[in-house]
Amino acid sequence: MEFELNEEQLMIQKAARDFAQNELKPGVIERDEHQKFPKEQVKRLGELGFLGMMIDSKYGGGGLDTISYVLAMEEISKVDASASVIMSVNNSLVCWGLQEYGTEEQKQKYLIPLAKGEIIGAFCLSEPEAGSDATSQHTTAIDKGDHYLLNGTKNWITNGGSASTFLVMAQTDASKKHKGINALIVEKGMPGFTLGPKESKLGIRGSDTHSLMFSDVKVPKANRIGEDGFGFKFAMKTLNGGRIGIASQALGIASGAYELALAYSKERKAFGKPISEHQAIQFKLADMATEIDAARLLCFKAAWLKDNKKDYSLAASFAKVFASRVAMETTVEVVQIHGGYGYVKEYHVERLMRDAKITQIYEGTTEVQKMVISRAILG
Ligand code: CAA
Repeated sequence: MEFELNEEQLMIQKAARDFAQNELKPGVIERDEHQKFPKEQVKRLGELGFLGMMIDSKYGGGGLDTISYVLAMEEISKVDASASVIMSVNNSLVCWGLQEYGTEEQKQKYLIPLAKGEIIGAFCLSEPEAGSDATSQHTTAIDKGDHYLLNGTKNWITNGGSASTFLVMAQTDASKKHKGINALIVEKGMPGFTLGPKESKLGIRGSDTHSLMFSDVKVPKANRIGEDGFGFKFAMKTLNGGRIGIASQALGIASGAYELALAYSKERKAFGKPISEHQAIQFKLADMATEIDAARLLCFKAAWLKDNKKDYSLAASFAKVFASRVAMETTVEVVQIHGGYGYVKEYHVERLMRDAKITQIYEGTTEVQKMVISRAILG
């Protein structure tokens, strides 16, 4: 067992840290306040190779391992969880799914610009009445010979307003239940495809989340990913990797908040000494450091299993359920350590606390992860 990062991984970690501190931190409070999508910063993420990290270089990606992705996600999420969810969805749910299951034609047409970050993508599974219960798809894709006719509504779609390429799950044959679902590549601008209003959210306010409406959208058969009926399996397999991304996002939110608390506790004085010299604060920091390290190890383990072509579904759920809880609990305590300062925007920690909550909801709620885990352990 090897616990050392290699030189390439350390280099990626440093590049992500520098980018986050120098280019994401300025303006992050304002983007959160005004729900402003980080357009320039996302363009830079693409230029730096952070939007197609695990994609083969022949398809415009970085050809990196999942451990490097975890490292980069942690550093970016320490500063701006809105930027990191944009990055995570593009990397894990869109590019990776296309690389793994797309045709050569789909890779040439869609994957290359996505992996280079020239355009961004969205993953469209959730619906008004199908969140956790994802097999209950009401969006339909009726087989019309050379194309599918797509009708329905998708909800809470990350990158909804900014993406050009959308991977949409829809029911073709209801009698086959989840085995009758297809995954289709839908382009922005296809006739009948409209964007709903942008959601006003508690956290990750810089990411643009929309509902999407499809009314008789003609999607060519060539845009189906995998065999007929593979759509639900495609979504689940893709989400296994997505959950490593969100676990790493939660890890970054927790470790970013912890680093702020550590620095603040050495500066802030109370009762004649820095608050870091009070045991009440020391024990909070000790608990955080322990739990963050455990969350990081779970992320690395899931990433290692993926890189080594082993089953990582259970490990991804372990990582997500634990890291998202650590993010929530840590950020609440970090606000507490900051006292009144923690409750105002200038100190960053209240934003991290608001951002943490979504990691327990999207890409499979905590309860869905526990379904996956209990089914795996009970058989
Ligand atoms: N990996 C691979 N296959 C999986 C899987 C996984 N993690 N989870 C389920 N499957 C497979 C099952 O093996 C089964 O396959 P077979 O038919 O071949 O046996 C099939 O999928 C159906 O699974 P179940 O019988 O277990 O179905 P279920 O309805 O009882 O439970 C569920 C399914 C696990 C709850 C699933 O619906 C689920 O994961 N729900 C959560 C959906 C989710 O994560 N949504 C996130 C939206 S995307 C998002 O948030 C992106 C964003 O914008 C940030």
